[in-house]
Amino acid sequence: MSNVDASPRNNACPVGQLPVSGQRAPDGCPVSARAADFDPFTDAYQQDPPEYLRWAREQEPIFFSPQLGYWVVTRYDSIKAIFRDNITFSPSIALEKITPTSDEANAVLASYGYAMNRTLVNEDEPAHMPRRRMLMDPFTPEALKHHEPMVRKLAREYVSRFIDDGRADLVDQMLWEIPLTVALHFLGVPEEDMDTLRKYSIAHTVNTWGRPQPEEQVEVAHAVGNFWQFAGKVLDKMRQDPSGDGWMFYGIRKQKENPEIVTDSYLHSMMMAGIVAAHETTANATANAMKLLLSHPDVWREIGEDPSLIPNAVEECLRHNGSIAAWRRLVTADTQVDGVDLPAGARLLIVTSSANHDERHFTDADLFDIRRDNSVDHLTFGYGSHQCMGKNLARMEMQIFVEEFARRLPHMRLAQQTFSYVPNTSFRGPEHLWVEWDPNANPERKDAGRRASTMPIRVGEPSRHAITRQVIVDSVTPVAEGIVRLRLVAPDGKAMPRWTPGSHIDIDCGTPDLSRQYSLCGDPAETNVLEIAVLREDQGRGGSTWVHTQVKAGDRLTMRGPRNHFRLDEDAGKIVFVAGGIGITPISAMARRARSLGIDYQLHYSGRRRSTMALLDDLAALHGDRLHVYAGDERHNDLAALLRTPESGTRIYACGPAKMLRALEICSAHWPDDALRTEHFVATKGQLDPAKEHAFEVELKDSGLVVKVRADQTMLAALRAANVDVQSDCEEGLCGSCEVRVLAGEVDHRDVVLTRAERDANNKVMTCCSRALGGRLVLEL
Ligand code: HEM
Ligand code: FES
Repeated sequence: MSNVDASPRNNACPVGQLPVSGQRAPDGCPVSARAADFDPFTDAYQQDPPEYLRWAREQEPIFFSPQLGYWVVTRYDSIKAIFRDNITFSPSIALEKITPTSDEANAVLASYGYAMNRTLVNEDEPAHMPRRRMLMDPFTPEALKHHEPMVRKLAREYVSRFIDDGRADLVDQMLWEIPLTVALHFLGVPEEDMDTLRKYSIAHTVNTWGRPQPEEQVEVAHAVGNFWQFAGKVLDKMRQDPSGDGWMFYGIRKQKENPEIVTDSYLHSMMMAGIVAAHETTANATANAMKLLLSHPDVWREIGEDPSLIPNAVEECLRHNGSIAAWRRLVTADTQVDGVDLPAGARLLIVTSSANHDERHFTDADLFDIRRDNSVDHLTFGYGSHQCMGKNLARMEMQIFVEEFARRLPHMRLAQQTFSYVPNTSFRGPEHLWVEWDPNANPERKDAGRRASTMPIRVGEPSRHAITRQVIVDSVTPVAEGIVRLRLVAPDGKAMPRWTPGSHIDIDCGTPDLSRQYSLCGDPAETNVLEIAVLREDQGRGGSTWVHTQVKAGDRLTMRGPRNHFRLDEDAGKIVFVAGGIGITPISAMARRARSLGIDYQLHYSGRRRSTMALLDDLAALHGDRLHVYAGDERHNDLAALLRTPESGTRIYACGPAKMLRALEICSAHWPDDALRTEHFVATKGQLDPAKEHAFEVELKDSGLVVKVRADQTMLAALRAANVDVQSDCEEGLCGSCEVRVLAGEVDHRDVVLTRAERDANNKVMTCCSRALGGRLVLEL
């Protein structure tokens, strides 16, 4: 097939052939010196692709590489847009040999009848999507669950083989073989010839993404030819009795029903490509992850102490140091990327590992932060209609491996070594990963129970809810009747996470089931401490009573966050802050910020009696006559009078009892639509009642799927069941984490996050609670 064989390409300067309008050197050549030097087969790229391309991300986000004959794209937004549009940017060259091979090597391949063709990853529409949909079921989180015991058992057995040695090469002794075994099980292939397969799959990587020397090309061609024939033989065997378990059997059965969608050529090519897709990607990803984790001993210790951090840590590893460094697309119609004109026929190397370090999308992008709340946005699994189908199998394997190591070998460390990589553009992982430890200190020598895991695996994207942090209570101080102020610090005394006014944290009050949200009320400039004020509510769920009766200085607490869904509009012309009772906590931080920004503001603070009102002295000292205090036994805040005259450009920020917030809504009804912004800690809508709901469909523009949402199901649950990643946190319409853009259809908004104007704009939806008013919504997913 011409789309997969290497076609002759002109690697010379594109001037004259390609109408480029990008940066040009003084002589008119658009290829800058750095672009001309770009060589992804050098050790510098292999060791750290995002670092190697930092200059490009910053100065020349797309450039033509004469050595490669490809345009190289490096920024997050551009790469995501390319993934989104699989018509203008065809995936057909994804498996093409990046280095054209010699005639001799091609003849060798032909002698084996090698005819690698389109699979899924390099198939264009309209053929791709019906095939992807038809073959998706074995990948859904529900279907993947039954692989968990096998992965667990393999991980345990392999670790047991070397746990007493004190030293191991994790790649050779475990990480290469288990993903291969799992891949073979997943596909339904008999577990034989593993060593041969291992050689074959490396050869396939070099053949497709590498730059083998002419003499090596012939050897590689023999291995690839053998791999191809082996794949054919296995497939023939499976066809004889297609009733077995596994994705290839599933494909064979689907072919009987729909031979024009699941073709013969697809099955043979997939038999070979599928092993590589499932195996090397995951083996490399785990080796990269372990290298990264062990290079950060503090993080390694933390996840050993709190394995609930592992799912997000794995996701952060995939972002920071993923196993697919770059992918490819072919331009099918004249277009522009980053302001540069690209003609039809241009080949693109989209460097996803560079996108994953783009500061424009990831704050402190080079920092390895296992609590980063948008790690899951990484592009290591691609995005859109071709996004990796096996991502949740890979995540499951990685979580199990990391957890097994962290529990049984928490004292493991990286051995002194130089890391080597197979030179290629895309598949990336160290060939060896030597680690060492003192076997006498193995925890299971003292406690045999450490051999077994109790950590449940969540199949799917990590939940934000699981990102926890341990903090120490520095002090507990009464600040008003029934209110204590807690100052929280890091166990190592270092900086606490950064926050912005309006943020809150979640604290586990005695048990993870009793998690309560508290707004931060201190000063963000104080970087080593987080401050909250807690009102004792004996009629509540018990969280505040626990804080008041149990918590003392020196205690260790589990918290999540900070997260902010009550952000201050720093461009507001004027701000009216309204706080009732303990609602002063976020408002106090916001008013401090407004003051420091020089915004014109007023602060209206009401409470039952002065003695019940926290922070009064501090507020008076800071805000002077901008502060208006309404102690119930002295005077009331007349909200109607306060908001009588609407002012454009003025925002009202309010936090306090539900009654006060309702009154504010009524009194500000004649104000501009998004003037009022309130903080809710309790959802106002009740549970889903299937008797009162209707089912609807959501069309996913980027993934090309249509997902049915049953009357008894949230949109979030339906999307997850269809293998679509959507982040979530509160899952009750309070926090905004599950927001998705709406392209068409009317939303029945049930969250308390969006303002009136945002609801009316009908271009965002909180998928955890909101629904469709009609039969269909079109989402940007
Ligand atoms: C596609 C990465 C594991 C099966 C892809 C793509 C990437 C990728 C970059 C192309 C995405 C696009 O064009 O938008 C990875 C990584 C993995 C991994 C980094 C491990 C960490 C797996 C596993 C399986 C698998 C375990 C199978 C069990 C597939 C399939 C496709 C695909 C079938 C083609 C989807 C389509 O084109 O519709 N993967 N993959 N992958 N992957 Fe994975
Ligand atoms: Fe919090 Fe949906 S998850 S609003």
